[in-house]
Amino acid sequence: MATKTQHAVGVDIGGTGIKGALVDLADGSLLTDRVKVATPAGAEPKDVLAAVKVVLETLEVTGADVPLGVAFPAIVRRGRTMSAANVSDKWIGFEAETFFEDGLGREIHFANDADVAGVAELRYGAAKDVDGLVILTTLGTGIGTALMYDGVLIPNSELGHLQRAEKKRDFEGVAAYSAMEREDLSWEEWAARLQRYYSHLEFLFSPDLFVVGGGVSKHADRFLPLLDLDTPIVPAVHRNNAGIIGAAALALAADAPTSTPAEAATLVAKSTD
Ligand code: BGC
Repeated sequence: MATKTQHAVGVDIGGTGIKGALVDLADGSLLTDRVKVATPAGAEPKDVLAAVKVVLETLEVTGADVPLGVAFPAIVRRGRTMSAANVSDKWIGFEAETFFEDGLGREIHFANDADVAGVAELRYGAAKDVDGLVILTTLGTGIGTALMYDGVLIPNSELGHLQRAEKKRDFEGVAAYSAMEREDLSWEEWAARLQRYYSHLEFLFSPDLFVVGGGVSKHADRFLPLLDLDTPIVPAVHRNNAGIIGAAALALAADAPTSTPAEAATLVAKSTD
């Protein structure tokens, strides 16, 4: 796909922090320092919007001349947020994309945070040129997942919410990085929980590759070697920046005739430079 877009801003809204940077879409590198502010307590729409404005003001990119992609930690269907695991319930069934566009006074591209991290790794990282099924997981406040088959994103998978049958609790509640911090687990104790999670995913999906993102992926050598899986498992090349880069990469699809963020993400994933 030919595109005129070279640079874009990516903003990654997470349960704990809101991060942004200007991204070079040719290679996915960051062109500015990463700006990070804390996610406001309760993560209500108006407070999250105000925090996103602070990120954009700090980056000095408040105009509409540079495309802007925004990633959000919820199911996103046609610009609407349809779930709220680590943010206010006000986001459920909320016209979030329109809300941000009105509040920021500009057009944006909007999608799920793990999906855009998957797109970043497809285009510029660990999932590039990998055939078959790649499952990216982000281990952070929650567990986000992106399913990609032969370079095409299948959006809005929510595999962090698979339940541990015997406990009736989401895996996210016990195996996200936040659970390790909250319960002060050792790497070994946390890895034992990850082992159950990834074994379960492996049984359900027979993937060709797992990619592990989220801030803790910078310590991948502390826990990935402790896992015993048939599927190769590697850290995300872009670590915790994959969300920012993937959000920015959504802008590439702006030149294409797409109608939904999911289609845009798929096109981004399939496009070649
Ligand atoms: C949400 C996902 C999100 C993940 C990571 C989960 O709780 O349901 O939509 O991708 O957290 O932020």
